Amino acid sequence: MKIIAPSILSADLANLSQQLRYVEIGGADWIHCDIMDGHFVPNLTFGPIMVNAVKRSTHLPVDVHLMIENADEFLEDYINAGADYLTVHQEAVVHLNRTINRIKELGAKAGISINPSTPVDTLQDTAEFADLILIMSVNPGFGGQSFISNSLKKVKELVKLRNELKAHFLIEIDGGMSKDTIVEASKAGVDVFVAGSSIFKSDNISAATAELKFLIQE
Ligand code: DX5
Ligand code: ZN
Repeated sequence: MKIIAPSILSADLANLSQQLRYVEIGGADWIHCDIMDGHFVPNLTFGPIMVNAVKRSTHLPVDVHLMIENADEFLEDYINAGADYLTVHQEAVVHLNRTINRIKELGAKAGISINPSTPVDTLQDTAEFADLILIMSVNPGFGGQSFISNSLKKVKELVKLRNELKAHFLIEIDGGMSKDTIVEASKAGVDVFVAGSSIFKSDNISAATAELKFLIQE
């Protein structure tokens, strides 16, 4: 099944529950929360309190993308706040195997994300332990950037790696997803599509969500 995960980074946070209602009406499957610390990425967003506000405002699974240093210190906080999926950046974690195991022990699904400059090969020894691998298709930090097209090659490499490992992780893509890019990403093998500005900056949030969902239906 293909999954649409609107990112609230581009939402009107003064009207969070209304914005969540709109994407639910459009058929959203998960809600994606982007956590930035001003160190790993050059931007700051929000923390566990906002994740918990999302959790209490939707029945959909909450997909938390940590773009932070010292992620190990905060895993429990985000899972207690309601993260169903918790993704860390490979580039920001020293003992990735331990971190993945800890996320699972705490009761959440564990994700690993890689930046546009990080090769898929580097996931050889960790991918089989993950529930989700997130390929960044923009440099993390901001919504509204252009899709980096060699991300599709990386998605195909990841599909191959998943087959070789006989693993079951979901493949997620994040950055620059719109009606112009989502079909190719779907054909390449993406399972979960994060979309921020193409949904929340549109005139009709429900219709924009529904359109993306329609374009990837199997
Ligand atoms: C970027 C974030 C994305 C962001 C995507 O660092 O991880 O989730 O919200 O935004 P768009 O869809 O506008 O590229
Ligand atoms: Zn994200």
